[in-house]
Amino acid sequence: MRALGYRVVDLIVEHVSSLGDKPVGAKADPAILRPALLTPPPPSAISPDEIFARLERDVFPNMMNVSHPRFFAFVPGPSNFVSVMGDALASGFNVFNGSWLGGSGAAALELAVIDWFRQWCGFPEEAGGLFVSGGSMANLTALVAARHTKLDDRTTGAVVYYSDQTHSSVERALRVIGFLPEQIRRIPSDAEFRLPMDTLARQVTEDRAAGLRPFAVIANAGTTNTGAIDPLAQIAAFCRAEDLWMHVDGAYGAAAGINERGRAALAGIELADSLSFDPHKWLFQSFECGCVLLRDAARLKATYRIMPEYLADVHRNVAEFNPCDYGIQLTRGFRALKVWMSIQYFGMDAFRAAMEHGFELAEFAEAKLRRMPQWEIVTPAQMGIVTFRRRGADERFYPKLHDAMLRDGFALATSTILNGRTVLRLCTINPRTTELEIEQTLDWIDRLLPAEM
Ligand SMILES: Cc1ncc(COP(=O)(O)O)c(C=O)c1O
Repeated sequence: MRALGYRVVDLIVEHVSSLGDKPVGAKADPAILRPALLTPPPPSAISPDEIFARLERDVFPNMMNVSHPRFFAFVPGPSNFVSVMGDALASGFNVFNGSWLGGSGAAALELAVIDWFRQWCGFPEEAGGLFVSGGSMANLTALVAARHTKLDDRTTGAVVYYSDQTHSSVERALRVIGFLPEQIRRIPSDAEFRLPMDTLARQVTEDRAAGLRPFAVIANAGTTNTGAIDPLAQIAAFCRAEDLWMHVDGAYGAAAGINERGRAALAGIELADSLSFDPHKWLFQSFECGCVLLRDAARLKATYRIMPEYLADVHRNVAEFNPCDYGIQLTRGFRALKVWMSIQYFGMDAFRAAMEHGFELAEFAEAKLRRMPQWEIVTPAQMGIVTFRRRGADERFYPKLHDAMLRDGFALATSTILNGRTVLRLCTINPRTTELEIEQTLDWIDRLLPAEM
């Protein structure tokens, strides 16, 4: 066990400590990789040397290093090594974190970490929640509770509202819980890519007049595209007045509440009925680590708790916290451990500084781009995201640029579409990224393809 374990630790340490010197990642050709790996299981043991050789040849080189300091695509995953060791411990002890009986220490630690999150988000004492795999599951878990609370699970005629900048996981969650496309109002966002209050109000009035049942508004606390934050306080007031559930998708941005300027930008988040929050994004945790919070944790319990006869021993003591009563999973791992360990290890000041660095790097990138004549800013630095476009380039430029970036491997940025036009986007939340790397990356992108493209 020790020999295998040390080897694993050495491999991880070698990887993470030399990441910046390696290509940002690689994508294999399916015609080559699938046959290499789609092989039958061996009838008898093969040697660790051979196992590691295969992993190092076929698996680990063929991935995007989302923790790489020059990975600016999508939402990076700037994990930290303490969190990785937390995962190893959770897995090594094989903690059953579904019930107090299965892991009272784990359940108590999860309560403690969730309570930190509750305080950062300004939620009241009765708020609570639990760890889930990520933002998609957090959105689903919250929307099921919203449906149960507001609609008694009956969705006929119910209508949901959100801006066209909302993450696709929200639509998927609504699909899962039985909403049809005609029950979803995807409202065109305003010039700052925020949910426009006047259109929202008009749409709700129209729907009520048509005999429908407006039910929930999903607001963004940091959109994936531009980092935009919907007018949270106004949406909250509107939802109160109209008796609508307010869910905030803060999978990307809510963690910024630990930092002063993040807290100011997120004002109003504390008024939400439910919130998604992803420590595996801007709280520097390894995958999978998402979190759902409800303003009233009892709503989660009312939604999810089922007491079968084989769990009678679990449910005997009402003072005990059983995570399985608050969400979809029964058997679940101990995700809170890595968050708790890394926060203990580094301290909150380090986390706040790391987050501030992310804000500043996006501003640095924006300033640099403004000095580059071939490029124009589309959305300024906001919550660690900046979007920009090559002057004069048509839509064919961006896929070619993407392929060129992958071929070269120095860094990676990806594109998105804003107002019908493709833009390039940097998400700069990795605390290990330096200003020099931002400069080098932008100069490199500038040189990758000829200007006339
Ligand atoms: C705003 C937002 N919501 C939800 C998600 C989905 O989260 P996950 O990929 O952790 O399921 C993302 C992922 O990037 C996101 O940016």
